[in-house]
Amino acid sequence: MTKGVPMEFLDLVRSKNDLVDVASRYLTLTHRGGNYWACCPFHNEKTASFSIKPDGQFYKCFGCGEAGNVINFVAKMENIDFMSAVEMLAKNAGLEMPSSEQNEEMRKRKQQRDRLFQILKLTTEFYANNLLNNPNSPQAEYIKSRKLNEETIKKFQLGVSLNYDDLPKFLLKNNFKEEDLLAAGVVGKNEHGLYDFYGKRVIFPLCNGFGDVVGFSARTIEQSPEHTKYKNTPQTPIFNKSEILFAYNFARELKKQHLLDSLVIVEGHIDVITCHQAGITNTIGCMGTALTQQHARKIKQLVDNVIICLDGDSAGSNATYKAIDVLKNEGLRVKVVRLTGAKDPDEFIKVYGKEKFLNFLENAIDCVDFILQDSAKKYDLTSNADKTKYVSEALNYISKFSTIAEQEIYLSELQQLVKIPIDALRKSLTNQTNKTTAIKPELEQPSENVKNKYILDSKIMFLAAILHKKVKNFEQIVGFFEGNDELSELYKFLMEKIGNNKDFNISTLFDNFDIAPNSLIDKVINYNFPPDEVFNTMLKDTIKRVKIYELQQQKEDLINKMNNSTDINERYDCLNKLKELDEKIKKEKM
Ligand code: GTP
Ligand code: MN
Repeated sequence: MTKGVPMEFLDLVRSKNDLVDVASRYLTLTHRGGNYWACCPFHNEKTASFSIKPDGQFYKCFGCGEAGNVINFVAKMENIDFMSAVEMLAKNAGLEMPSSEQNEEMRKRKQQRDRLFQILKLTTEFYANNLLNNPNSPQAEYIKSRKLNEETIKKFQLGVSLNYDDLPKFLLKNNFKEEDLLAAGVVGKNEHGLYDFYGKRVIFPLCNGFGDVVGFSARTIEQSPEHTKYKNTPQTPIFNKSEILFAYNFARELKKQHLLDSLVIVEGHIDVITCHQAGITNTIGCMGTALTQQHARKIKQLVDNVIICLDGDSAGSNATYKAIDVLKNEGLRVKVVRLTGAKDPDEFIKVYGKEKFLNFLENAIDCVDFILQDSAKKYDLTSNADKTKYVSEALNYISKFSTIAEQEIYLSELQQLVKIPIDALRKSLTNQTNKTTAIKPELEQPSENVKNKYILDSKIMFLAAILHKKVKNFEQIVGFFEGNDELSELYKFLMEKIGNNKDFNISTLFDNFDIAPNSLIDKVINYNFPPDEVFNTMLKDTIKRVKIYELQQQKEDLINKMNNSTDINERYDCLNKLKELDEKIKKEKM
């Protein structure tokens, strides 16, 4: 058993969900040399180093080292926990989830989530019916005033709340418990009892990637500033603000039908809705908040190209700079539109029409060009002092956001703006690039990180081999687990069982360790073994490589010691030991 589901069931889920098939819903795969390849969705890269071995049903990225099976893949891509991924894949294959007394806690959590989903669904319907049945309510009038048609209202499941009492009454009548209503974030409680958390507002349901409503944004129709303009669902077991994007579910649908190649990001709900109503259905909303890295990752799962089209005010301008940063970080190609003549896309489309808006989108400029042009406005380029500041700022962005080839293009643009010889700019850029890498030493030593990751992965593999009884000869790996970390604890635990000739299986681990999804032990448990003969070779190679790494580490320590020592005897001693180490390394490498 693992996590309340029998191993056999996990095997069944895996066997019914072909990894290539599932992955191709998220990535563009190319078939080469028996494997499938794509740009890795888990780190930023330009050449494909993410590979799937269809016969082994596992994936591995040679760039970042991520590896796993179809369940791990879906969990990572959807940003959900292991069990939710199992559930999703089971559903996909038409399998019933087995129930389990073993993990009562798990079942309870799942049941609560299901109840919350039901509450959100019913509440959405309740608000939508309010709108339908009360077309003359001030909230309905407001929707009309924003020129949203019936089809749009239906698509976005828009609704209205007319008062503070009807919703809690309705939900209680439907046999939901007060504690669940509070947990779902649809009602609040004060001295008079329960009240509609979004009372008297216009309701915009927020969906997860699958189109299930998980929360709401509710807009006031009052003009006065003491009414918060939008009230959003707080964090709940099914709603996580930092990963929800408005209309993302529609974008995902388009992607599934291969109809999506870029996304337009706008600020407001109404902006998104107006764009969709005008047929620009590749629009999503960041809901006014700053884009998080999680948001960017979700966007990168669907597209490589985005156009940022935020509000025309100065807040929108600042948000644009931040969004560029976050999106570029995720490896996206980013363009920018700054609207003129209207405060936001909604107003723009209503005043100038859809064609003109599409025109703006077509003429979106590359994000670095945008920054070069926009930040030039802050300076008086006829003054030398200002010019210097501007050049420094511009070069900073160029070095941060562009490839070497792109840099040349930007430099020539910058040259035209500031009239400084391009050679001088190029030289400053090189200095700047060196400076930035010096500030971030982790960039200078990728090999160290890769090495640590490799050692960690290897430890996971060794433990998986022991746990799943794939090795007999433990002596070879004795030296690797001497710390106090989680994996060393697991090693000690297993060795103790083996030493005492006691049997063990995975379910025993759950009684002894706190195993969070995606934790190291979780990775050991769910280790995806390639076929035996492949694994045996892999194991041998890995033991060898880890040994070499350890020897190289000892060598580095010795070199440091030698360099810091002034005692000639000690230095001589180090030198001798170094020679020995070199011999050992050479032998291991043979
Ligand atoms: P109009 O300006 O009337 O077109 O409405 P809008 O929805 O475009 O609002 P606005 O341009 O002021 O803000 C853009 C987005 O920021 C909104 O759609 C909300 O997602 C978010 N936002 C604005 N005000 C608030 C607020 O008071 N609280 C929260 N949580 N979000 C807000
Ligand atoms: Mn707006």
